[in-house]
Amino acid sequence: MKSDTGFEHNWQVRREAYYNHWTRTMPKNQIQFAFRQHWLLFQEIMQHPSFNRGKRCLEVGCGRGTISAYFADHGFDCTLVDISATVIDIAQEIFRRNRLPGRFRVGDANALDFPDASFDVVVSIGLLEHFRNVATPLREQVRVLDSGGLLLAYIVPEYRQNVQRRYDWINEILKGYVEPAGCQQKEKIYRSRYSSEKYVPILKKLGMKHLRASGVYPVPMISHSVDFPFSLMPERSEAAYVRTLETMLAERKRHSSRNPWLCKEGYGQALLIWGFR
Ligand SMILES: C[S@@+](CC[C@H](N)C(=O)[O-])C[C@H]1O[C@@H](n2cnc3c(N)ncnc32)[C@H](O)[C@@H]1O
Repeated sequence: MKSDTGFEHNWQVRREAYYNHWTRTMPKNQIQFAFRQHWLLFQEIMQHPSFNRGKRCLEVGCGRGTISAYFADHGFDCTLVDISATVIDIAQEIFRRNRLPGRFRVGDANALDFPDASFDVVVSIGLLEHFRNVATPLREQVRVLDSGGLLLAYIVPEYRQNVQRRYDWINEILKGYVEPAGCQQKEKIYRSRYSSEKYVPILKKLGMKHLRASGVYPVPMISHSVDFPFSLMPERSEAAYVRTLETMLAERKRHSSRNPWLCKEGYGQALLIWGFR
């Protein structure tokens, strides 16, 4: 199944396409903050004894390549693939501007153009929920993973009752006055409701080991437009909200030894599945 419906349009017409979510310094907005938390969590996962500690990283459905920027900045040899030629150009430009090394390819997650066992990490952020048939992209990701390689699948299912839904009322209020007149409409993109029960058995069958699944991103996005691609609030509001989020996570950390970005599946914004080949 071709799953690029809507993406190319949104990358072409939305000014959010040019946001850069990677930062080496302190996060200034909630997207930078979220990606920083993903990266801190991924670093923790990479401490697992089953990981082969290799540095070849593939991001599938890379968009602007934000998570790859973190990997590249930490010495990984990054390859980025997306079905949208527009966003591959944008990702390449972001890497160039930040002097980060990376290889960029237009390609389909259903048929990755790489030999078996060519990567030590295969990561996707917000990709797998756009497929009705998830077996094919999962098979491809496992195929290109080397032995001891790590699969990181960050999935954003169409949840009915997660943390975001509880704060929809704030976003409804913001919508009333923030969206600038004449702003291009976003195209609605298909998202499945599949939980980890759909993905984990497939990955087990494909021979993945030490599989784990968890809810992740336990705080709401506050914006006039929380759909892909996500819109930011004015700078000062973003900075104030990021400080609040930082305080909330620090509190969570004080009460548990578990990474504070993890939560119950179904509660957070997303689902994270990881395991080793
Ligand atoms: C929600 S965006 C996430 C982008 C990026 N990973 C991020 O974290 O911001 C999903 C991305 O997957 C890409 N995509 C959709 N279907 C694809 C496919 N079949 N093969 C490769 N990329 C695909 C889209 O073009 C889009 O850039």
